[in-house]
Amino acid sequence: MKTIKIFAPATVANLSCGFDVLGCCLDTIGDEMVISITDQQGVRITKIDGADLPMETHKNVAGVAVEALLVALGKTEIGVDIEIYKKIKAGSGIGSSAASSAGAVWAVNHLLGNPCTPQELVAFAMVGEKLASGNAHADNVAPALLGGFTLVRSYTPLDVLKLHTPQDLVMTVIHPQIEVKTSDSRSVIKQNVSLKQAITQWGNLGGLVTGLFTEDYELIGRSLEDVIIEPLRSILIPEFQQVKEAALSTGALGCGISGSGPSIYALSKGLETAEKVSNAIRDVYQKTGLDFDIHVSKINAEGVKIMNYPEA
Ligand code: HSE
Repeated sequence: MKTIKIFAPATVANLSCGFDVLGCCLDTIGDEMVISITDQQGVRITKIDGADLPMETHKNVAGVAVEALLVALGKTEIGVDIEIYKKIKAGSGIGSSAASSAGAVWAVNHLLGNPCTPQELVAFAMVGEKLASGNAHADNVAPALLGGFTLVRSYTPLDVLKLHTPQDLVMTVIHPQIEVKTSDSRSVIKQNVSLKQAITQWGNLGGLVTGLFTEDYELIGRSLEDVIIEPLRSILIPEFQQVKEAALSTGALGCGISGSGPSIYALSKGLETAEKVSNAIRDVYQKTGLDFDIHVSKINAEGVKIMNYPEA
């Protein structure tokens, strides 16, 4: 039996102007998983700690993602046991399901000698996202697998690019302790956008990608704008506008909904500003009486990380 313990990172998807195409990987927030290759044919979820999630393989995002990988590799005769130690809450908007599906396929691929590149693993992890939300978006699983900032240039055919990560970027994320299902949050979005909105959005998307590669923090900041999704979804998030105003007036480069919410992200230059932003948005939320968590994290340029190889 071959076993590996991994860190499966949380991720912030969309980054305001890049709905379903942009995402970045966090460093201090993530699940732990122990994955083993066994002689007993089939994929099994053997333990879930920290969350009430399905143990049945075909209902579990990690289970279906690994099954899809094994079918593609022609390795359905092997066995895989998956233990999941959830630290990222489901429905938080920081890629909880993506961490499980990306972590599981990454670990199995690693134990099999890396037959797939991280880019190739994205398609298998997306099978988990499809199960979780009804939509096979890749903007959480791609940064979890590749690390740093990623862009899904195309879904058909799938073309995932790793962008540059400026060293000084630090993320502050507030997670109000309410659950917003991605499927519900997607149902409030309109299926059509106006040309005017599209022009603003793709201008900002190009600006953000340019800002990342040129390490132009001002450009990154002014590109973090979403005129299409945020106006519709932000009504689901208590105190969204107040949090955004507090973050921006404290020096954050930009602030918006993390993935499908309810988490809100703020991107800052430097840890000191990110900590000040954390305090400012904490002040806003403390007045609401709602429970919340706040995380401050550097960008994880690596993605899934090996923690150790436990004794088999
Ligand atoms: N792009 C997806 C959405 C991310 O916004 O619905 C879900 O975390």
